[in-house]
Amino acid sequence: MTADEKKKAVALAALEYVESGWVIGVGTGSTANHFIDGLAKIKGKLDGAVASSNATADRLKKVGIPVLDLNSTGDLPLYVDGADEATKHLHLIKGGGGALTREKIVAAASAKFVCIADDSKLVDVLGRFPLPVEVIPMARSLVARRIVELGGQPVLRENFKTDNGNIILDVHNLKIMNPVELEEKLDHLAGVVTNGLFARRPADVLLLASDQGVRKLT
Ligand code: 5RP
Repeated sequence: MTADEKKKAVALAALEYVESGWVIGVGTGSTANHFIDGLAKIKGKLDGAVASSNATADRLKKVGIPVLDLNSTGDLPLYVDGADEATKHLHLIKGGGGALTREKIVAAASAKFVCIADDSKLVDVLGRFPLPVEVIPMARSLVARRIVELGGQPVLRENFKTDNGNIILDVHNLKIMNPVELEEKLDHLAGVVTNGLFARRPADVLLLASDQGVRKLT
């Protein structure tokens, strides 16, 4: 199976978590896009969706799923999204697509976070994938210096602005032995909006696609 076939298989497997009459959170990226395409076929079941990015909102609308504002929905029963890296503890790195802040908000509002990924995303230790950090533009250099002090190598994501109008620093050379601690340290730096570690609020279910099929980690 190609990576894209695995992404599609795992996205379709997540459809079984969707119940009638729900408003659910929908993530961002190529795996989440397969999930949206799957949702399109059962859209009568859903009352709507909260999108974790403008791109996802556009795709949901295109297939006829109403996009709702999180401020009007209250908490959500389910959030389905991909990841850039995941461990067996269901700690994640997210934000390769730059949507980490809204993704973290929707995850925080959701009772169950089902993460969908192909098996290439499973790692023993997070950090091979550069950790995205969303930063207020005026704090770019300040935050970069503090990240160097923490042992990382920040690289500005070129020609990129988040949906919130901010920049992304992708942090290389991290071996993240304690993701909860690093997530907290980064969030406490003045000028950081969010970082891409999802450890304080990890996934609740990780669905992983391989050539052998889709397996579930909880
Ligand atoms: C976007 C994300 C994505 O979930 C992550 O980048 C994985 O993307 P893909 O499904 O395309 O591999 O966090 O901000």
